[in-house]
Amino acid sequence: MTDLNTLEADVLAQVAAASDLQALDAVRVAAVGKTGSISGLLKTLGAMSPEERKTQGAAINALRDKVAEAISAKKAALEAAELDARLASETLDLSLPAPYRRKGSVHPTMQTMDEIVAVFAEMGFAVAEGPDIEDDFHNFTALNFPEKHPAREMHDTFFFNTKESGERMLLRTHTSPVQVRTMVSQQPPIRIIAPGRTYRVDNDATHTPVFHQVEGLVIDRGIHMGHLKWTLETFLARFFETDAVTTQFRPHHFPFTEPSAEMDVQCDRSGGEIKIGQGTSWLEILGCGMVHPNVLRACGIDPDEYQGFAFGMGVDRLGMLKYGMPDLRDMWSSDVRWLSHYGFSAFAAPNPASGLS
Ligand code: DAH
Repeated sequence: MTDLNTLEADVLAQVAAASDLQALDAVRVAAVGKTGSISGLLKTLGAMSPEERKTQGAAINALRDKVAEAISAKKAALEAAELDARLASETLDLSLPAPYRRKGSVHPTMQTMDEIVAVFAEMGFAVAEGPDIEDDFHNFTALNFPEKHPAREMHDTFFFNTKESGERMLLRTHTSPVQVRTMVSQQPPIRIIAPGRTYRVDNDATHTPVFHQVEGLVIDRGIHMGHLKWTLETFLARFFETDAVTTQFRPHHFPFTEPSAEMDVQCDRSGGEIKIGQGTSWLEILGCGMVHPNVLRACGIDPDEYQGFAFGMGVDRLGMLKYGMPDLRDMWSSDVRWLSHYGFSAFAAPNPASGLS
């Protein structure tokens, strides 16, 4: 019969000597594993007399518990030591200067937005702003979207939870609510553009959930479509810095304008890059039209006295066209290689006099 005391001293010495978790596990398997020394002793109980089994059984079980306890205590100590070593080796000196990687740059969409603002500012437009979180009245109702009309669904709106009052705020689906805010608070003549972020539940090669628009609004006496066409064509020639831009107006429907149109720019998309002023493709860049009399009325302006035109353009798309970026999704993937290729210097403030880009 193996002397239990000798076995105990032997196994406990091995536990104490284990220098890492792997060695400790080997000791555990050799002692209390399926074919381990202590497990082997338990198997001998069957051949003993009942008396002997009682005393030996209790003694072997006590030994097994003692060894198991010693192993788990040693395991905890080894794990703590391992963690301490790791913490010591992985310290980070936060006072060290950051490694040089690349200079920050202006994102092409922001550059494009600044360029659009610079061209319209030169044409006598003021910049107006509105909130990103809008209410139903400014985003839809005042813009002549009938209640429960499918046109509201067209916009794939991000809604907030309904308030106790029953009102439901939303992320503006276009910059057109800024028209409403401007007409409600200013008397004509009005000549504004409203650059900003807009939101829709949409995501593919030509749509992102957050995108950017610039809204335009002109209200005065005797305004007609001719003014609209001249303004947009003049803008595009200056923005693209060439007279070679070819555009087409397509009849369209917007609830807030009558008549309404969409404007496309001719381009070439054949070489994995977009080139303007050539090719056989058309890229839709803006919606426009004559402000609907219902919108003027909703904003307290008499349609018999004043008329106006409005337009809304996609900034990201204009940027893609001007700077030849083929996929809209790359613009927001935060890839530093893309940003260093397409980004602009923060000191290159766009100015039509010195050239825009
Ligand atoms: N709000 C429209 C959109 O997001 C764009 C637009 C079309 C704005 C016609 C206008 C307009 O001001 O007159 O699709």
